[in-house]
Amino acid sequence: MTVEEAIRKRKSVRSYLPKPVEDEKIIQLLEAARLAPSASNRQEWRFVVVKDEGKRKLLADAACGQDFVGEAPCIFICCAETDEHVMTCGQMCYPIDVAIAIDHITLRAVELGLGTCWIGAFHEDRIKHIASIPEEIRVVELLTVGYPTDPKAISKRRLPLDSIYFIDEWGKK
Ligand SMILES: Cc1cc2nc3c(=O)[nH]c(=O)nc-3n(C[C@H](O)[C@H](O)[C@H](O)COP(=O)(O)O)c2cc1C
Repeated sequence: MTVEEAIRKRKSVRSYLPKPVEDEKIIQLLEAARLAPSASNRQEWRFVVVKDEGKRKLLADAACGQDFVGEAPCIFICCAETDEHVMTCGQMCYPIDVAIAIDHITLRAVELGLGTCWIGAFHEDRIKHIASIPEEIRVVELLTVGYPTDPKAISKRRLPLDSIYFIDEWGKK
């Protein structure tokens, strides 16, 4: 599979087969995250991989009751062990770096026949409590992982290409 094929095929999967994700595949996803770029090579990402059914149901509750979250056989709690460094550009490093790592995971998952869904709607304090995550660690996102019930590619609802870029100056084409 080419990178382009993986990008085009990736979609948010909200329905999963009740089939566990093999440990070897979980390791391959984590390896894709490990190789991601990060500001000053900080590599602040940390992951708690949750397979336990009871914990998954609790995570779904803490994710604003999104039931499909608990139905995924595996949930990555995507964290940062961070000093909250702000770059010269004014942006904080860690949410960007963790997001890049997650994107690596989502694309590698496509190649491995897995589906994923980013989850940003959750209560951080509750997630931390469920997975015994220390107070100083930030939870950036959850990511559900599993075998999709419907692996077909979908057409993506996206802005037209022409509307998202300029050349040389804002507003110039
Ligand atoms: C940062 C972020 C947070 C998201 N949070 C949620 C969420 O809490 N629940 C959900 O069902 N989808 C969530 N999504 C998935 C988006 O709705 C989805 O990516 C978008 O609609 C585009 O669809 P696609 O991923 O199928 O291309 C999130 C995506 C991102 C990138």
